[in-house]
Amino acid sequence: MGWDSEDWDGKPVIAILNTWSDLNTCHTHFKILAEQVKKGILQAGGLPVEMPVMSLGEIYTKPTSMLYRNFLAMEAEETLRCHPIDGAVLLGGCDKTTPALLMGALSMDLPVVYVPGGPMLRGNWRGEVLGSGSDVWKYWDEKRAGNISDDDWAEIEDGIARSPGHCMTMGTASTMTALAEALGFTLPGASSIPASDSNHQRMATQSGRQAVENVWQDRKPSQIASMEAFENAIVTDMAIGGSTNAIVHLVAMAGRAGLKLPLEKFDEISQRVPFILDVRPSGRFLMEDFYYAGGLRALLKQLESLLHLDCLTVNGKTLGENIASAEVHQPEVIRPLDQPVSTAGGTAILRGNLAPHGAVIKQTAADPAFWQHTGPAVVFRDYNDLAARIDDPDLPVTKDSVIVLQNAGPKGAPGMPEWGMLPIPKKLLEQGVRDMVRVSDARMSGTSYGTCVLHISPESAIGGPLALLRDGDEITLDIPGRSISANLSEEEWEERRRSWQEPAPHYARGFGKLYLDHVTQAEEGCDFDFLHGAPATVAEPEIH
Ligand code: FES
Repeated sequence: MGWDSEDWDGKPVIAILNTWSDLNTCHTHFKILAEQVKKGILQAGGLPVEMPVMSLGEIYTKPTSMLYRNFLAMEAEETLRCHPIDGAVLLGGCDKTTPALLMGALSMDLPVVYVPGGPMLRGNWRGEVLGSGSDVWKYWDEKRAGNISDDDWAEIEDGIARSPGHCMTMGTASTMTALAEALGFTLPGASSIPASDSNHQRMATQSGRQAVENVWQDRKPSQIASMEAFENAIVTDMAIGGSTNAIVHLVAMAGRAGLKLPLEKFDEISQRVPFILDVRPSGRFLMEDFYYAGGLRALLKQLESLLHLDCLTVNGKTLGENIASAEVHQPEVIRPLDQPVSTAGGTAILRGNLAPHGAVIKQTAADPAFWQHTGPAVVFRDYNDLAARIDDPDLPVTKDSVIVLQNAGPKGAPGMPEWGMLPIPKKLLEQGVRDMVRVSDARMSGTSYGTCVLHISPESAIGGPLALLRDGDEITLDIPGRSISANLSEEEWEERRRSWQEPAPHYARGFGKLYLDHVTQAEEGCDFDFLHGAPATVAEPEIH
C-alpha cells in the first residue's frame, strides 16, 4: 500500500466512511471531499484510511432508501468494529445517510466527526428560483393539469439540480444535517455551507484535523449524545420547520444512545418553539440564502434562550461557546423569535382512534383551511391501487374528501416509503384544487407539502385501525386538538377487525426478511428491535 512504518506507527488511524457512489446524485463530490479530509488528518499527525460504506442515495434506491437505513447503520458500526481504527470522519448528506452513520457511530462509540455533504446551489428555470422536490411536486401537478408542456418539464429537470450537494430546500437532508450540528456532531456552522462553496472544503480539512484531536482526547459520541443534546435537536427541528422524517430518525438515534424520545416530547417542544426559518417548503427561501443569512449558528443564536447551551460538541467546546459570536445578517430569512413565520413549531403529533400510537403532520406545510376538517374517506388499499385509480374520472371524490392510503408503513410497503403526499386526483387538479386532507402510514419527503397525516401507528399491515377504513367513513382531522379519528362505533370497529386479513409478507429470505422480522413501528424509530440500547459495556471477545 506504499506506507512506511513511520507513516502509521503510534499515530491515530482515522477511518473516512465514504457514502460515495455513481448512483448517489447528492454525493458526487465525495471523492474530492474525502481528499480534503485526508489532508487534515495527515496535517494533524493521523493516518487516514478511506472505507466505502453503502451509498444510499435517495433517488435510485428501490423500493425505498428507508428499507436500508438500518443496513447502513449496521455496516458503519461493524466497519468501525472489525478494523484497527481509532476514530472516524463520517461523510453523509443525502437523507438516510446522516441518521444511519450517526446510529452506527453511537452504537460503536468511537470518536467521530460528521462532515455534512452540503446543499446544492439554488435551482433556476427561466430566471425563476427552483427548490428541490417542492418544485418537482408543484410543476408535476401543473403538467398533469395540462398547464405546462413536456419541453417545459425537461427544462425544469435541467435547472433544478445544477451543482453537487443534497436537496437545498429544508427537506430531510438539510434537516438531518442541521440536527447533526445541533446535536454537536459537526464543526460549528458546517451544515449550512453549500457543497460547491470553497468554505465547504476548508470545513472538511478542519474536520480531519479535529478527528485526530478527538482520538487523543478520547471524545466519544456517548459524551455528546445526551438527552439535553436531543432536546436541542428537537428545538432546532421545530424552529427550522424540519422534515417529519426527523422524528423517526431522532427517535432511532436516541435509541442507540440508550435514550427514549416519546412523541409527546416533540409535541411539547413544538408548542413552545416558533418556526423562524423562512426556507421552503414551508417558507420562501433556500439553503443558499440561509447560509448567506448566517446559517445554523445564527439560527441557534436566535434560539439561545430555548437551548441547553452547556452541551459538549465535537470540537470540545460547548454549544453556547460555538454560537457566541454568531449573527443574523438577513432577518427576513432567519426571523427574530418575536416575529416568526409561524408561532407554532413545524410538526404536530396527533392521536385518536385512527392512530392510537401516534401520527405526525407538518402543520406549517398544510393549508390552514384544513386544520379542522371532516370529510368522507376515499380508500386505496395499497400504492398500486392508488396509481391505478387516482386519476379515474369516475372516482367518487370531491375537494372535501379525505384520501386514505393503506399498507404503506414499515412492514406494509415495505420500508415506509415517502408516498404520504398522496396525489390530488386529476379531475380536482383541473378544477384548481391544490390541497386536500390525506392520511396514510407512509412517510413524506421533507420537500413535500400539503395537509398530509403521516406515520399512522400501528400501521395497517399489522392490523392497525387504518387497515379497517372503508370508502365513505367520516374522518375528522383536528390539528389544534391534536387528533385524527374515524366516526365509527366500537361495534363497527370490532366487526371489521374480525374480518381483517393480514397481507402476505413481502420477503421470505435475505435482508428483507430480517427487516420484516425486526423493524419497529414509526414511534419507535423503525430501528431493528435488537439494535436498541446504549453501546455494550461488556468487553469484546479476544479473537486472534
Ligand atoms: Fe439526496 Fe434529496 S435526493 S437529499
